Amino acid sequence: MDVAVFSAKPYDRTFLDAAGASRHRLRYLEAHLSPATAILAQGAGAVCAFVNDTVDAAVLAEFQRLGVGLVALRSAGFNNVDLAAAREAGIAVARVPAYSPEAVAEHTVALILSLDRNIHRAYSRVREGNFALDGLMGFNLHGRTVGIVGTGRIGLGVIRIMLGFGCRVLAYDPYPDPATAALGAVHVPLAELIATSDIISLHCPLTPETHHLIDANAIAAMKRGVMLINTSRGGIIDTRAVVEGLKDGAIGHLGLDVYEEEADLFFEDLSDQVIRDDVFARLQTFPNVLITGHQGFFTAEALSAIAETTIANITAFEETGEPLHPVAAPPPA
Ligand code: NAI
Repeated sequence: MDVAVFSAKPYDRTFLDAAGASRHRLRYLEAHLSPATAILAQGAGAVCAFVNDTVDAAVLAEFQRLGVGLVALRSAGFNNVDLAAAREAGIAVARVPAYSPEAVAEHTVALILSLDRNIHRAYSRVREGNFALDGLMGFNLHGRTVGIVGTGRIGLGVIRIMLGFGCRVLAYDPYPDPATAALGAVHVPLAELIATSDIISLHCPLTPETHHLIDANAIAAMKRGVMLINTSRGGIIDTRAVVEGLKDGAIGHLGLDVYEEEADLFFEDLSDQVIRDDVFARLQTFPNVLITGHQGFFTAEALSAIAETTIANITAFEETGEPLHPVAAPPPA
């Protein structure tokens, strides 16, 4: 099948070619997918898209016109797709449900450890010959309370690791999984998790219910000096409220791998440009903030698994009309 691969980076090409170039004709496009670029899919039976590509009603209408039958996401999250519009247009949507939850879980813990022990600051100091320790004091993770919001595949991975550090782990999920309790974590209501955790880590999807789940009210209810970690989707936290929380010390550490407005920033080299996003620029001024550019998934194992599942979705769609891992909108009420 002819596949238009949007937002393609050299590493996407390497792994997708290894998984499926013999089976499908993959056309790599550097452009992000948007209503303005959707036309580039002309001639393709399927489109392959990533997290910051826009798959809205306008894009899907264009795909319908062009005869594109499948949007195969190279991601687990699908908040960037208008599923109802896809159903209307008769376009199947597929995702990669679980490529390597450990990759994101381990990156989450990397942020926790780096922030706690000020590794990001120590790195710069030592390179400049400054071996003073003032300002670098951390805290033991052993015995601390960690709150995990969303106990799916990634949340469970973080729970396992944090229990290994000797932390007390609280968990909240509207659909509690018995595996969480079996590991030794304790399911509690969200309000209790927010009020009693030393570290709060977000692992739920971005949905209308979770949009700005962490807002000014939630921050006010947290332990003073809490560490907040978001490796899930930027929109789960209200970034402006978090900036205020950092300014007044309510939030003691912030670790982000995702950002509400990341589509204009992440995955590109903007090092010789002026960052025009004032909220993002303000975040960068805090010594207790560590931001990575959506790299939680970025391990060789994960990229290989993403490529293989993406190709399997496209192959299954070509053979049966259904991808292996479809994402469907709920039927209209
Ligand atoms: P998953 O689908 O296995 O688990 C998500 C969990 O969140 C489920 O247990 C679900 O019941 C729960 N949930 C739903 N609504 C909730 C709510 N209102 N409050 C609390 N929990 C809620 O998903 P997985 O694989 O664990 O991924 C989680 C998220 O991580 C994805 O949605 C995606 O946004 C993000 N992600 C980030 C990556 C990165 O590179 N930083 C890479 C992969 C995923």
